[in-house]
Amino acid sequence: MTTPEGTWKTLRLLAKPAAVEDAQVVFADYASDPAVSIYMTWEPHRHIDETTGFLRRCERTWTEGSEFTWTLWTKDDEALAGILSIRMDASAVHLGYALAQRWWRQGLMSEALKPVIQWALAQPTIYRVWATCDIDNVASARLLERVGMEREGVLHRWVMHPNMSDIPRDCLCYSIVKAG
Ligand SMILES: CC(C)(COP(=O)(O)OP(=O)(O)OC[C@H]1O[C@@H](n2cnc3c(N)ncnc32)[C@H](O)[C@@H]1OP(=O)(O)O)[C@@H](O)C(=O)NCCC(=O)NCCS
Repeated sequence: MTTPEGTWKTLRLLAKPAAVEDAQVVFADYASDPAVSIYMTWEPHRHIDETTGFLRRCERTWTEGSEFTWTLWTKDDEALAGILSIRMDASAVHLGYALAQRWWRQGLMSEALKPVIQWALAQPTIYRVWATCDIDNVASARLLERVGMEREGVLHRWVMHPNMSDIPRDCLCYSIVKAG
């Protein structure tokens, strides 16, 4: 099983495995914010129990090795900045991420994604790192381009984004792959 580091640092961030003990701050700082979830596959959490359930799943999938989710904290004041996850498939890693609104547009998610992408591509069994985002999610598309991913195309009617529509949405597909 390929397992990444639990705790790691960048210039401004500290990452640690997402844990149920952080439910209150995860709920308050981003999971309940409709602006954060607008392009996500989930609706804003209305009660902390939903956040606890999500974090419990993160703990379980970490143990199973199927998905690794970190919470990201600012090194300066130890505030929750957001969350980053990698889903492990047989030969690919899929990225998921979100920041609390007050931390948008400061280059933080680029900073967090770069070492994770580097780690993934260094694994002998991993040939592809990829992510999708809603066709209208300009911030996410720009972020993926900034970290060096290539736009592969549009996945039509790919996934439900329930805050946007009640039918599946078109999504942009981005990747970095190992040379053959
Ligand atoms: C997507 C998200 C994580 C971006 O993180 P971020 O730390 O703000 O992004 P960065 O500051 O690293 O910026 C990366 C690039 O995107 C651009 N960008 C960021 N937000 C933008 C916006 N709202 N509109 C246009 N461009 C934007 C930045 O200018 C930068 O581009 P540059 O290289 O030309 O300067 C953040 O907007 C977010 O959490 N959104 C809500 C959750 C979400 O949509 N997650 C993704 C689901 S697929």
